[in-house]
Amino acid sequence: MALAAINLSDVKVIFEGSTILENVNLTVQDGDSVAIIGPSGQGKSVLLKIMAGLVLPTEGKVLVRGENLSEISGARRQKVVNKIGMLFQKNALFDSLTCGDNIAFPLREVTDLDEQQIQKVVAEFLEAVGISHAKNLFPDEISGGMQKRLGIARALALNPDLIFYDDPTAGLDPITSRKIIDLILRLRAQNSATVVAVTNDMNRAYQMASRIWMVVDRQVVDAGSVEQTKQHQDLRIQQFITGAIRGPLTAPDSGAIND
Ligand SMILES: Nc1ncnc2c1ncn2[C@@H]1O[C@H](COP(=O)(O)OP(=O)(O)O)[C@@H](O)[C@H]1O
Ligand SMILES: [Mg+2]
Repeated sequence: MALAAINLSDVKVIFEGSTILENVNLTVQDGDSVAIIGPSGQGKSVLLKIMAGLVLPTEGKVLVRGENLSEISGARRQKVVNKIGMLFQKNALFDSLTCGDNIAFPLREVTDLDEQQIQKVVAEFLEAVGISHAKNLFPDEISGGMQKRLGIARALALNPDLIFYDDPTAGLDPITSRKIIDLILRLRAQNSATVVAVTNDMNRAYQMASRIWMVVDRQVVDAGSVEQTKQHQDLRIQQFITGAIRGPLTAPDSGAIND
Protein backbone atom coordinates (compact mmCIF):
# COMPACT_ATOMS: atom_id res chain seq x y z
CA MET A 1 0.00 0.00 0.00
CA ALA A 2 1.25 3.49 -0.79
CA LEU A 3 2.37 5.56 2.16
CA ALA A 4 -0.03 8.22 3.36
CA ALA A 5 1.15 11.78 2.82
CA ILE A 6 0.66 12.47 6.53
CA ASN A 7 -0.38 10.33 9.45
CA LEU A 8 -1.06 11.66 12.93
CA SER A 9 -1.56 9.18 15.76
CA ASP A 10 -2.56 10.06 19.32
CA VAL A 11 -1.08 13.51 18.90
CA LYS A 12 -1.22 15.79 21.92
CA VAL A 13 0.15 19.32 22.10
CA ILE A 14 0.67 21.10 25.40
CA PHE A 15 1.97 24.69 25.48
CA GLU A 16 2.98 26.21 28.82
CA GLY A 17 0.80 23.77 30.76
CA SER A 18 -2.32 24.13 28.65
CA THR A 19 -3.53 21.46 26.30
CA ILE A 20 -4.03 22.86 22.80
CA LEU A 21 -4.79 19.62 20.93
CA GLU A 22 -5.36 16.03 22.06
CA ASN A 23 -6.42 12.63 20.68
CA VAL A 24 -5.61 13.67 17.14
CA ASN A 25 -5.75 10.63 14.85
CA LEU A 26 -5.91 11.60 11.20
CA THR A 27 -4.55 10.75 7.79
CA VAL A 28 -3.98 12.86 4.71
CA GLN A 29 -3.88 10.74 1.56
CA ASP A 30 -1.85 11.63 -1.49
CA GLY A 31 -3.82 13.97 -3.73
CA ASP A 32 -6.14 15.11 -0.93
CA SER A 33 -7.02 18.74 -0.56
CA VAL A 34 -7.88 19.23 3.10
CA ALA A 35 -9.44 22.42 4.42
CA ILE A 36 -9.02 23.01 8.15
CA ILE A 37 -11.73 25.20 9.65
CA GLY A 38 -12.58 26.26 13.18
CA PRO A 39 -12.88 29.28 15.46
CA SER A 40 -9.73 31.34 15.98
CA GLY A 41 -7.31 30.46 18.72
CA GLN A 42 -8.29 26.76 18.66
CA GLY A 43 -5.06 25.40 17.22
CA LYS A 44 -5.38 25.40 13.43
CA SER A 45 -1.98 27.01 12.87
CA VAL A 46 -0.44 24.75 15.50
CA LEU A 47 -1.89 21.70 13.74
CA LEU A 48 -0.41 22.86 10.43
CA LYS A 49 3.02 23.41 12.01
CA ILE A 50 2.83 19.97 13.64
CA MET A 51 2.18 18.38 10.22
CA ALA A 52 5.01 20.35 8.62
CA GLY A 53 7.45 19.26 11.34
CA LEU A 54 7.95 22.85 12.57
CA VAL A 55 6.48 22.06 15.99
CA LEU A 56 6.99 18.68 17.64
CA PRO A 57 4.02 17.10 19.43
CA THR A 58 4.20 16.70 23.21
CA GLU A 59 2.92 13.14 22.75
CA GLY A 60 2.06 10.94 19.80
CA LYS A 61 3.51 10.44 16.38
CA VAL A 62 3.57 12.43 13.15
CA LEU A 63 4.59 10.59 10.01
CA VAL A 64 5.25 12.44 6.77
CA ARG A 65 5.46 9.90 3.96
CA GLY A 66 6.20 7.28 6.57
CA GLU A 67 9.03 9.23 8.18
CA ASN A 68 8.78 10.36 11.80
CA LEU A 69 10.09 13.93 11.69
CA SER A 70 10.95 13.94 15.39
CA GLU A 71 13.22 10.94 14.99
CA ILE A 72 15.15 11.70 11.84
CA SER A 73 17.78 14.37 11.26
CA GLY A 74 20.39 15.62 8.82
CA ALA A 75 20.12 14.78 5.14
CA ARG A 76 17.30 12.28 5.68
CA ARG A 77 15.13 14.91 7.39
CA GLN A 78 16.12 17.56 4.85
CA LYS A 79 14.96 15.30 2.03
CA VAL A 80 11.44 15.11 3.51
CA VAL A 81 11.33 18.79 4.50
CA ASN A 82 12.42 19.97 1.03
CA LYS A 83 9.28 18.41 -0.43
CA ILE A 84 7.09 20.49 1.90
CA GLY A 85 5.98 24.01 0.95
CA MET A 86 4.44 26.37 3.46
CA LEU A 87 2.62 29.66 3.19
CA PHE A 88 2.59 31.19 6.67
CA GLN A 89 -0.34 33.17 8.02
CA LYS A 90 1.77 36.35 7.91
CA ASN A 91 3.61 35.31 4.74
CA ALA A 92 7.04 35.40 6.52
CA LEU A 93 8.63 37.20 3.59
CA PHE A 94 12.16 38.59 3.85
CA ASP A 95 11.66 42.36 4.02
CA SER A 96 15.24 43.13 3.01
CA LEU A 97 15.11 41.00 -0.14
CA THR A 98 13.38 41.94 -3.39
CA CYS A 99 10.40 39.87 -4.51
CA GLY A 100 12.65 38.05 -6.99
CA ASP A 101 15.23 37.28 -4.30
CA ASN A 102 12.52 36.05 -1.93
CA ILE A 103 11.74 33.30 -4.44
CA ALA A 104 15.40 32.71 -5.22
CA PHE A 105 16.25 32.23 -1.53
CA PRO A 106 15.11 28.59 -1.11
CA LEU A 107 16.56 27.74 -4.52
CA ARG A 108 19.97 29.09 -3.47
CA GLU A 109 19.77 27.33 -0.11
CA VAL A 110 18.72 23.92 -1.30
CA THR A 111 19.43 23.33 -4.99
CA ASP A 112 22.60 23.20 -7.09
CA LEU A 113 21.12 25.44 -9.77
CA ASP A 114 23.45 28.15 -11.14
CA GLU A 115 22.42 31.80 -11.09
CA GLN A 116 21.10 31.77 -14.63
CA GLN A 117 18.89 28.73 -13.93
CA ILE A 118 17.70 30.30 -10.66
CA GLN A 119 16.70 33.49 -12.48
CA LYS A 120 14.75 31.40 -14.97
CA VAL A 121 12.79 29.65 -12.21
CA VAL A 122 12.20 32.98 -10.44
CA ALA A 123 10.80 34.48 -13.65
CA GLU A 124 8.53 31.46 -14.17
CA PHE A 125 7.08 31.67 -10.67
CA LEU A 126 6.61 35.45 -10.73
CA GLU A 127 4.73 34.93 -13.98
CA ALA A 128 2.68 32.02 -12.61
CA VAL A 129 1.37 34.10 -9.71
CA GLY A 130 0.95 37.20 -11.87
CA ILE A 131 3.51 39.57 -10.30
CA SER A 132 6.33 39.66 -12.87
CA HIS A 133 6.38 43.45 -12.71
CA ALA A 134 7.27 43.32 -8.99
CA LYS A 135 10.54 41.39 -9.39
CA ASN A 136 12.76 44.22 -8.19
CA LEU A 137 10.38 45.69 -5.62
CA PHE A 138 10.57 44.95 -1.90
CA PRO A 139 7.66 43.25 -0.10
CA ASP A 140 6.60 46.46 1.67
CA GLU A 141 6.26 48.17 -1.71
CA ILE A 142 3.51 45.80 -2.93
CA SER A 143 -0.13 45.26 -1.85
CA GLY A 144 -1.35 42.62 0.60
CA GLY A 145 -2.75 40.49 -2.21
CA MET A 146 0.55 40.64 -4.06
CA GLN A 147 2.45 39.71 -0.89
CA LYS A 148 0.20 36.61 -0.65
CA ARG A 149 1.01 35.75 -4.27
CA LEU A 150 4.70 36.16 -3.55
CA GLY A 151 4.42 33.95 -0.46
CA ILE A 152 2.72 31.30 -2.58
CA ALA A 153 5.42 31.52 -5.26
CA ARG A 154 8.15 31.11 -2.63
CA ALA A 155 6.33 28.17 -1.01
CA LEU A 156 6.13 26.44 -4.39
CA ALA A 157 9.59 27.27 -5.72
CA LEU A 158 11.09 23.91 -4.75
CA ASN A 159 8.21 22.08 -6.39
CA PRO A 160 6.91 20.53 -3.14
CA ASP A 161 4.54 17.59 -3.26
CA LEU A 162 2.97 18.60 0.05
CA ILE A 163 1.80 22.17 0.50
CA PHE A 164 0.46 23.89 3.61
CA TYR A 165 -1.40 27.18 3.34
CA ASP A 166 -2.17 28.99 6.59
CA ASP A 167 -5.22 31.17 6.06
CA PRO A 168 -4.24 32.28 2.54
CA THR A 169 -7.16 34.68 2.15
CA ALA A 170 -7.20 36.28 5.62
CA GLY A 171 -7.44 40.06 5.45
CA LEU A 172 -8.06 40.09 1.70
CA ASP A 173 -11.20 41.48 0.10
CA PRO A 174 -13.63 38.90 -1.41
CA ILE A 175 -12.49 39.41 -5.00
CA THR A 176 -8.79 39.11 -4.18
CA SER A 177 -9.58 36.08 -1.99
CA ARG A 178 -11.25 34.38 -4.90
CA LYS A 179 -8.28 35.14 -7.13
CA ILE A 180 -5.87 33.68 -4.58
CA ILE A 181 -7.95 30.49 -4.26
CA ASP A 182 -8.21 30.22 -8.05
CA LEU A 183 -4.43 30.56 -8.17
CA ILE A 184 -3.96 27.84 -5.54
CA LEU A 185 -6.36 25.54 -7.44
CA ARG A 186 -4.67 26.23 -10.77
CA LEU A 187 -1.19 25.58 -9.39
CA ARG A 188 -2.46 22.43 -7.71
CA ALA A 189 -3.89 21.14 -10.98
CA GLN A 190 -0.50 21.75 -12.58
CA ASN A 191 1.68 19.87 -10.11
CA SER A 192 -0.89 17.54 -8.49
CA ALA A 193 0.42 18.24 -5.01
CA THR A 194 -1.33 17.31 -1.79
CA VAL A 195 -2.72 20.44 -0.14
CA VAL A 196 -3.69 21.23 3.45
CA ALA A 197 -5.11 24.71 3.96
CA VAL A 198 -6.44 26.55 6.98
CA THR A 199 -9.35 28.81 6.15
CA ASN A 200 -12.20 30.39 8.02
CA ASP A 201 -14.02 31.21 4.84
CA MET A 202 -16.48 28.37 4.19
CA ASN A 203 -17.07 29.40 0.61
CA ARG A 204 -13.34 29.02 -0.04
CA ALA A 205 -13.27 25.72 1.85
CA TYR A 206 -16.12 24.36 -0.28
CA GLN A 207 -14.38 25.61 -3.40
CA MET A 208 -11.08 23.85 -2.76
CA ALA A 209 -11.52 20.94 -0.36
CA SER A 210 -11.86 17.22 -0.96
CA ARG A 211 -12.11 16.84 2.84
CA ILE A 212 -12.85 19.20 5.69
CA TRP A 213 -11.46 19.03 9.21
CA MET A 214 -12.68 21.16 12.07
CA VAL A 215 -10.53 22.07 15.05
CA VAL A 216 -12.75 22.54 18.08
CA ASP A 217 -12.53 21.84 21.82
CA ARG A 218 -8.90 20.61 21.50
CA GLN A 219 -10.01 17.94 19.02
CA VAL A 220 -9.78 17.68 15.27
CA VAL A 221 -12.98 16.32 13.71
CA ASP A 222 -12.74 14.88 10.21
CA ALA A 223 -16.07 16.04 8.79
CA GLY A 224 -15.54 14.24 5.47
CA SER A 225 -16.34 15.59 2.02
CA VAL A 226 -18.00 18.93 1.35
CA GLU A 227 -21.41 17.22 1.05
CA GLN A 228 -20.86 15.22 4.24
CA THR A 229 -19.74 18.36 6.07
CA LYS A 230 -22.84 20.27 5.02
CA GLN A 231 -25.01 17.51 6.51
CA HIS A 232 -22.82 16.68 9.49
CA GLN A 233 -24.59 15.64 12.70
CA ASP A 234 -22.12 17.44 14.96
CA LEU A 235 -23.87 20.60 16.12
CA ARG A 236 -20.56 22.47 16.52
CA ILE A 237 -19.86 21.92 12.83
CA GLN A 238 -23.36 23.01 11.79
CA GLN A 239 -23.18 26.13 13.95
CA PHE A 240 -19.75 27.01 12.66
CA ILE A 241 -20.49 26.61 8.98
CA THR A 242 -23.83 28.41 9.03
CA GLY A 243 -22.34 31.23 11.14
CA ALA A 244 -19.26 31.48 8.93
CA ILE A 245 -21.32 31.70 5.77
CA ARG A 246 -23.71 34.31 7.13
CA GLY A 247 -20.95 36.23 8.87
CA PRO A 248 -18.48 37.36 6.24
CA LEU A 249 -21.09 37.83 3.52
CA THR A 250 -23.26 40.23 5.48
CA ALA A 251 -20.51 41.99 7.42
CA PRO A 252 -19.19 45.23 5.96
CA ASP A 253 -15.92 44.60 4.18
CA SER A 254 -13.81 46.69 6.51
CA GLY A 255 -10.04 46.66 6.67
CA ALA A 256 -9.65 44.62 3.51
CA ILE A 257 -6.46 44.88 1.55
CA ASN A 258 -6.91 45.48 -2.13
CA ASP A 259 -4.89 43.48 -4.61
N1 LIG B 1 4.53 28.77 20.31
C1 LIG B 1 3.49 28.85 21.15
N2 LIG B 1 3.68 28.89 22.49
C2 LIG B 1 2.64 28.95 23.32
N3 LIG B 1 1.34 28.97 22.95
C3 LIG B 1 1.09 28.94 21.63
C4 LIG B 1 2.14 28.88 20.67
N4 LIG B 1 1.59 28.85 19.43
C5 LIG B 1 0.25 28.90 19.62
N5 LIG B 1 -0.04 28.94 20.95
C6 LIG B 1 -1.40 28.95 21.52
O1 LIG B 1 -2.11 27.86 20.97
C7 LIG B 1 -3.48 28.20 20.75
C8 LIG B 1 -3.85 27.92 19.32
O2 LIG B 1 -3.18 28.85 18.47
P1 LIG B 1 -3.31 28.84 16.89
O3 LIG B 1 -2.96 27.51 16.38
O4 LIG B 1 -2.49 29.98 16.41
O5 LIG B 1 -4.86 29.13 16.69
P2 LIG B 1 -5.65 29.32 15.31
O6 LIG B 1 -4.68 29.19 14.19
O7 LIG B 1 -6.72 28.27 15.34
O8 LIG B 1 -6.25 30.68 15.39
C9 LIG B 1 -3.61 29.65 21.16
O9 LIG B 1 -4.14 29.69 22.45
C10 LIG B 1 -2.20 30.17 21.12
O10 LIG B 1 -2.04 31.23 22.03
MG1 LIG C 1 -3.95 30.59 12.80
